[in-house]
Amino acid sequence: TTQTEANLIGKNEVLPIYKPREKYSHKGTFGHGLIVGGSYGKIGAVTLASRSVLAVGAGKVTAYTPKCGYIPLQTAFPEAMVITDADEEKLTKIDFSIDPTVIGIGVGLGTDSKTIIAFENFLKANKKPLVIDADGLNILAKKKTLLKLLPELTILTPHPKELERLIGSWKDDFDKLNKTKAFAKKYKVIVVIKGANTITVFNDKLYVNATGNPGLATAGTGDVLTGIITGLIAQGYDALQATLFGVYLHGKSADILIEEFGYQSIIASNVIDGISLAYLDLF
Ligand code: APR
Ligand code: MG
Repeated sequence: TTQTEANLIGKNEVLPIYKPREKYSHKGTFGHGLIVGGSYGKIGAVTLASRSVLAVGAGKVTAYTPKCGYIPLQTAFPEAMVITDADEEKLTKIDFSIDPTVIGIGVGLGTDSKTIIAFENFLKANKKPLVIDADGLNILAKKKTLLKLLPELTILTPHPKELERLIGSWKDDFDKLNKTKAFAKKYKVIVVIKGANTITVFNDKLYVNATGNPGLATAGTGDVLTGIITGLIAQGYDALQATLFGVYLHGKSADILIEEFGYQSIIASNVIDGISLAYLDLF
């Protein structure tokens, strides 16, 4: 057994993290998030994540998707800039001329063999901070040698199945946490174990999030979390702060929403709209 410090993260813990906006700020002050992902039929994941980047306060967002993402993104989300791959349906190359502050990668990405090669080449060349989710995690799990290419403090946001693919199966919750701690330490990453009680694992410490409810058990809410954390890093929060504050705001948004709308009908877009209410609730 190992000793573990566990911290509960609620309003009192995130308040000191929160950075108020300066009067003499401009969009450049708040950074530029890049969301890389999407495949035919899963462009919505990129739309949700990109919207979340701006909703949490980043200055700019760009989405990098297959060609089929161009019209839906520009239509559903005019605030985003869009760069497209040469391929219509999937990413075959992850290569761009912009200079983002941070990159969130993996939502709706798919695991086509060409996409896997593109992801691998991207990791080899990349120097930017990363948030990796969904099929980005599934590709890492398929090709574990890629894990050593991750920049220090990369944030991984697996749901339970994605975590199992990364670290293998576990006997019980205690074993799961120990295996995740060993994994996070080995690769110097932050792991967000998503679920009813989301736990962030970093540097032998556990951070248990106090917000969130079963209203979040609906398609796309994980994509929203990816965008939230990416958007917080864009505007200058460090990796651990962005993770803890992001998981808190995501859950708090849903907590505020269910008071008015109940659990059943909330959808991921609503959780994006609720981010502003979660911010207002801090004060
Ligand atoms: N209570 C509180 N929070 C919950 C609950 C619950 N009962 N159920 C789910 N959540 C939260 C999780 O903590 C997480 O933040 O909702 C989010 C769900 O994230 P995902 O499981 O990634 O779901 P989703 O956004 O639909 O994923 C989209 O990506 O990971 C792949 O396989 C996934 O194809 C799917 C896609
Ligand atoms: Mg997901």
